[in-house]
Amino acid sequence: MRTQQNSFKDSEIHPLNSLDEWEEAVLQRYPDPDSIAKDRSADQYRNYETPERDTVREFYRLNHTYQTYDFVQEKRAAYLQFNKKEMPVWEAFDFLNQLVDDSDPDTDLDQFQHLLQTSEAIRADGHPDWMVLTGLMHDMGKVLCLFGEPQWAVVGDTFPVGCAYSDKIVYPEFFRNNPDFNNPVYQTPTGVYEPGCGLRNVHMSWGHDEYMYQMMKDYLPEQGLYMLRYHSFYAWHREGAYSELLDGHDREMLRWVKLFNPYDLYSKCPVPPDWKQLRSYYEDLVAKYLPATLKF
Ligand SMILES: [Fe+2]
Ligand SMILES: [Fe+2]
Repeated sequence: MRTQQNSFKDSEIHPLNSLDEWEEAVLQRYPDPDSIAKDRSADQYRNYETPERDTVREFYRLNHTYQTYDFVQEKRAAYLQFNKKEMPVWEAFDFLNQLVDDSDPDTDLDQFQHLLQTSEAIRADGHPDWMVLTGLMHDMGKVLCLFGEPQWAVVGDTFPVGCAYSDKIVYPEFFRNNPDFNNPVYQTPTGVYEPGCGLRNVHMSWGHDEYMYQMMKDYLPEQGLYMLRYHSFYAWHREGAYSELLDGHDREMLRWVKLFNPYDLYSKCPVPPDWKQLRSYYEDLVAKYLPATLKF
């Protein structure tokens, strides 16, 4: 069967120079309030004033055009069997690190560094060890790119499919190109879902968040699972949209998703943590919660 993915042109698969370009755009949208307050972030200010690069705009155009309800079902069927690859956790980090930034290999940290900086910032603030592990694992799902998925089906702000799009999602105008936009069943506020059904019953646009949640769901506490599953759902955790879909449990978990987000966005530091010193702590942490191998 010819999959939808195979019919994409190369420019429709990789509009960004690297996956980090999306995260930089998110950082421009939600700059670090501490850095602003302390006026330590002249660079961030400058970025914030700079219009987003066309590559980012194009990335969102593709994401909003092609992330349909049916596309999400197709990807869930393809990936949630976890029959693609099996690796020890530490090998999986090496695998993830094959994702390199072609445009600027010297200045960007590799994927593992982002994960380690996130987890170290969480640890430094004294949070529970499962949250440190959540930080370490949260972007592992980006390996979807290495399985041939287009960038817009791996990263990007996530949003519910099967119901109306919130105008709180960045570049909402691009949803007009999405075939679901013309399906009246999908365009009421709750669409195919029951009001107040809870996010666990809602299908989100496909990407690294849902994939990682599904991979980790037997191993981390509920709060950590919400962090994994919804960390890119900015329209919810930053903008307060989609209240008609939420239940009490979502509202309770929101504070954990909000607690996690600054560690994801603001933990980049120019001096990488010393892995040699940290290694044994993380080996113990991984062994405490995770099985010997992970199934992808
Ligand atoms: Fe992420
Ligand atoms: Fe991240």
